[in-house]
Amino acid sequence: MTYCAIDFGTSNSAVAVPDGAALRLAPVEGAYTTLPTAVFFNTDENSRDYGRAALEAYIDGFDGRLMRSMKSILGSPLAENSTDLGDGSAIKYTDVIAIFVEHLKRSAEASAGASISRAVLGRPVFFVDDDPRADQLAQQQLEAAARSVGLKEIHFQYEPIAAAFDYESHLTQEGLVLVADIGGGTSDFSLVRVGPERVKRVERKDDVLAHHGVHVAGTDFDRRVELVTILRELGYQTLDPEGREIPNRIYFDLATWHLINTVYAPKRVSELVLMRHLFTQTRHHDRLMRVVDRRLGHALAAHAEEAKIGVAAGGETIIDLELVEEDLRLAFDEAQLIKAGHDETLRIVQAARDTVQAAGVAPRDVGAIYFTGGSTGLAFLSGALSAAFPDARPVFGDRLASVATGLGIHARRIFGQA
Ligand SMILES: Nc1ncnc2c1ncn2[C@@H]1O[C@H](COP(=O)(O)OP(=O)(O)OP(=O)(O)O)[C@@H](O)[C@H]1O
Ligand SMILES: [Mg+2]
Repeated sequence: MTYCAIDFGTSNSAVAVPDGAALRLAPVEGAYTTLPTAVFFNTDENSRDYGRAALEAYIDGFDGRLMRSMKSILGSPLAENSTDLGDGSAIKYTDVIAIFVEHLKRSAEASAGASISRAVLGRPVFFVDDDPRADQLAQQQLEAAARSVGLKEIHFQYEPIAAAFDYESHLTQEGLVLVADIGGGTSDFSLVRVGPERVKRVERKDDVLAHHGVHVAGTDFDRRVELVTILRELGYQTLDPEGREIPNRIYFDLATWHLINTVYAPKRVSELVLMRHLFTQTRHHDRLMRVVDRRLGHALAAHAEEAKIGVAAGGETIIDLELVEEDLRLAFDEAQLIKAGHDETLRIVQAARDTVQAAGVAPRDVGAIYFTGGSTGLAFLSGALSAAFPDARPVFGDRLASVATGLGIHARRIFGQA
């Protein structure tokens, strides 16, 4: 019997297992040690795929249902609802989460060669902003999902604090680090006192000077990108013959991963057909109907994310919308991304400032900023955070593995060496 540490992320997940006195990440999809948080329920072949294979099966056009970003649903009333799989059967969102957690647990067991009933699970600082009851519910729902697949002893740790433990394991000097974990769904910050002398302690409450987070991160940048590029070509923010903006709900739903499927409901589709007279450019309506009829919503959202990553470190890219209309291509560059994500960037930087202020620490006393999470690949965003703490040394961790590794360090402190 052994234990594991699970980083169940909005976009990507990973699991760490003990390896003698050390730790390692378990392979979770082939040789990969992280995988996209996605499940595809293939109703053609009555099978299930996880991670990259789920995204591929969906793109290959198998009949079925793709579930992604399931973590975003935790804490909302939707989480206990059932969703249709397209073949007449239905499944609760929390059961989809349980199925995914079970995949991680089984991967950990296969890697460790032992069964697992104890686990540390990461959690964001807030699953839900400004709503402590919903936030508590979210953790309960995740815990219930983990229990339902055989995890009996479960401890939670905040994801950015875990990242601080990972950072600390490479340190030779004591200091104050601001961890910035900018993922897909949340941007989380912790101000932590770290140092080689502190590594062995189980109780670290006093070393965590403050932690704080906001529900603004990578997928919000994707949504902005999709709205100002792709969806404008489908009529977003255009005016009807009376000079009023076209109702924008359809566009916001299309740009939000877990709402995309709602757009395909027969009632929504017939409403859209009836909206044609509102479009002064009928080609916008033609494109919109094509997207809905061919269920291209997830593909468009993926194009927006690709465009964002394409310019993340500076530069420019082309968004190819061939699947919507022949020869429809849009140029996209970092300046457009910065403009589209202006408000999101400000909110994330403000959350970092608020974290340090809540600790009663002056910005100049932050010794280092430790960047982790996929969205710290956005050069302008890490730049904006560094600029807010000019005296802090920027340190870039493993974007996708720091949290899982740090959760593993915490698990070893709690459960011991095996
Ligand atoms: N090179 C890159 N540059 C910028 N963004 C990137 C890059 N690679 C991945 N991303 C973005 O990082 C996000 C995923 O990051 P990560 O895997 O850390 O999130 P997560 O842990 O799943 O989410 P959370 O911690 O919020 O639950 C996605 O929004 C993705 O588009
Ligand atoms: Mg994360």
